[in-house]
Amino acid sequence: MPQREYVIEPMISAKAIAARVEELAGEIERHFAGTGKLVVVGLLRGSFVFIADLVREIGLNIEVDFLEASSYGDSTESSREVRILKDLRGEIGGRDVLVVEDIVDTGYTLQHVVGLLRSRKPRRLETIALLDKPSRREVDIRATWTGFEIPDEFVVGYGIDFAQRNRNLPYIGKVRFTGEG
Ligand code: PRP
Repeated sequence: MPQREYVIEPMISAKAIAARVEELAGEIERHFAGTGKLVVVGLLRGSFVFIADLVREIGLNIEVDFLEASSYGDSTESSREVRILKDLRGEIGGRDVLVVEDIVDTGYTLQHVVGLLRSRKPRRLETIALLDKPSRREVDIRATWTGFEIPDEFVVGYGIDFAQRNRNLPYIGKVRFTGEG
């Protein structure tokens, strides 16, 4: 796919994200208080920045694991077919689990992953998404905790890419296409 030209307009600042991450971590701590160990599962690749910041604010005994699911590839349209590209390293049966997602859009990825992980019979399974685009939802699912609800804009940064670019922006930006496309 030829790369369209675009500019990135700031949408959610690094400071606002940090403040929200701290709040969310507090809610997670309260919810899972008394847990032996919380398994925090990051969905690769988009959640890698969020999970790194989030776990450093959670004052519980945790274990980190990763799962890679993909429905978009390098496209901007969901294929609605979620593939597991990399499974967890650890067992989650009987354990407390938190699934960390960067963004919930159509909802297919989160629905598929939650279904898969629930089939392994965790004791408790909750989900957190930094961003939610409710207007795009095609399946009935919502994360337990959401950082920010956003309109149907194409966003990048803080782990989120456009054709594998811009994941390293420290803030969330809105993509505005400039040239012909
Ligand atoms: C993106 C994003 C979410 C998912 C959300 O992943 O990181 O996991 O899509 O979309 P949905 O709600 O419509 O399913 P992508 O497949 O682009 O992989 P990535 O995380 O590696 O960028």
